[in-house]
Amino acid sequence: MSEFYKCAICGKIVKVIAEGRGQLVCCDQPMGMISHFKSVNEVLDFAIEKEEEARLFYLEWAKKLENKALSEQFVLFAGEENKHKEKLQRVRSGSTFKPAAKQVTDLKIVDYLVDITPTPDMDYQEALIVAMRREKASFKLYNDLAAMAEDEGLRETFLALAQEEAKHKLRLETEYEKEIYTEN
Ligand SMILES: [Fe+2]
Ligand SMILES: [Fe+2]
Repeated sequence: MSEFYKCAICGKIVKVIAEGRGQLVCCDQPMGMISHFKSVNEVLDFAIEKEEEARLFYLEWAKKLENKALSEQFVLFAGEENKHKEKLQRVRSGSTFKPAAKQVTDLKIVDYLVDITPTPDMDYQEALIVAMRREKASFKLYNDLAAMAEDEGLRETFLALAQEEAKHKLRLETEYEKEIYTEN
């Protein structure tokens, strides 16, 4: 796969189409390399792993949450994340992709991680916040993967998944707003 750089501030992704010696700068900062994947299969494995993590997150918290409506919502989400995982697995097993032209190993996975740790006694609002952040990270991940995909079908798959994660986020946000406004 080609080399890609991403601006940590504005999110712009730049593809290197010819090598040079200069440093890439955006928003007054050096851009960080994000194409740490050696092959398309590695990209898919990474995304499959993230979907499994999301599925387990929703299942685990569905059991712990006292709020029944949210718990049911989480079970539903777990099912949808599972479908995403299966979709990616189908792409991985059914398609052939050109091997990577060169290997890049810089890992910038932190971009797609959620920075707050859930606690067993978190309340309804906190659970919603953690879930929203997860969905935002997933959305970002698929958007970036789509930008980097050199196969048209793969790009469409990633864009479709990004939209689904955006819908998850919206559903959680709607729930969150409802919660805030009915509180007082
Ligand atoms: Fe997902
Ligand atoms: Fe999701």
